[in-house]
Amino acid sequence: MRWTAAAAFGLEGLVKQDLKRLGMLRIAPLETGGVSFEGGPADGFRANLWLRTADRIFLTLDEFKALSFDALFEGVRAIPWEDYLPEDASFPVRAQCARSCLMSPSDCQAIVKKAVADRLGARYGRLRMPETGAEFQICVSIHRDTARIDLNSSGDALSRRGYRTWNAEAPLRETLAAALVLSSPWRPRLPLYDPCCGGGTLLIEAAFIALDRAPGLKRRFAMENWPFVPVRECTNARDEAQARFSEGWKRPLDIGGSDIDPDAIELAKRHLKQADLQGRIPVRVADLRQLPPRGDCGAYLVNPPYGERLGDLKCARAVARQLGALQARSPKWSLTAITADAGFEKAYGGRADRKRRFYNGRLECETLIFQGQERI
Ligand SMILES: C[S@@+](CC[C@H](N)C(=O)[O-])C[C@H]1O[C@@H](n2cnc3c(N)ncnc32)[C@H](O)[C@@H]1O
Repeated sequence: MRWTAAAAFGLEGLVKQDLKRLGMLRIAPLETGGVSFEGGPADGFRANLWLRTADRIFLTLDEFKALSFDALFEGVRAIPWEDYLPEDASFPVRAQCARSCLMSPSDCQAIVKKAVADRLGARYGRLRMPETGAEFQICVSIHRDTARIDLNSSGDALSRRGYRTWNAEAPLRETLAAALVLSSPWRPRLPLYDPCCGGGTLLIEAAFIALDRAPGLKRRFAMENWPFVPVRECTNARDEAQARFSEGWKRPLDIGGSDIDPDAIELAKRHLKQADLQGRIPVRVADLRQLPPRGDCGAYLVNPPYGERLGDLKCARAVARQLGALQARSPKWSLTAITADAGFEKAYGGRADRKRRFYNGRLECETLIFQGQERI
């Protein structure tokens, strides 16, 4: 089976690394974004369970040239849908089109829906499909006149790990927070501190990595309702992930954070509890200007106010300046920040040693890594 791990622009390299670690086969980046790989249903399930930076995992059913609605209809109708969808399956369709003759997503959705209903109706001997059962979301992406037909195996986006049920102000998406942690100089066992921790997303994602906790451990995926996916294989993969977390839980952890806003800290505490990390990560109310200097090597990770989404630019620049002063007080610590502010380095008072471009929703951001005196 061919699978596609969709990811935000800039995160494909991290998704590829994760897929390699999981032992997936024929891993290849796609021109349209995302990474494809091959494997059976259990592999698709493990990708859902373990990928930290992917948005969704799709089962790719076919790819063909679609220069007209007729070609799209015939191509979709030729897929053996009855091998995947039971008689009562509900099958909503989502389409996206780019640089193609077919540029109307709503028309493409209607054509694909009709083609699938036509094929299933003929196979199951029905004029109308009941669509009362489990959901199989069909996703059609038409790019440069090539249509890719996928089933969404994740359901909700993989960023929905299940621990963040209350929204902090300007929170970082969980997948992006994991990307920030993975591209920072921090490594498990080193101290990590977020001086503007908000709802605690960065702290939680780092702890998941340090404690070998699968990001999807506590949620379900759409493919668990698919009849051709063996339940036992999913149960085994989840049990194995639980066992790894139970073992990982015993590891030492030096992760903490603070925020000037008491409400944010309350929220962080609730999220930590939801993430089963209660008692492992101290968080407190503190202004970053008052944080004490740190000695041995460690890593500050921070998603400071951007000036676009939180407060104004002047405030954001003041925080950038304070972060520069914080690192100057702890010269052996690196500092990794994600920001959309092109003036961040100037306000911080130094040039980043490394940069990486990401998107936080539609906002173009940069991850800036200031190494500190000692390279980790
Ligand atoms: C963009 S939010 C962080 C969101 C967080 N990463 C999350 O995902 O929930 C920025 C945070 O910086 C905090 N902040 C602003 N100025 C601060 C200061 N001087 N000291 C500590 N925290 C500050 C704000 O209260 C806010 O929670």
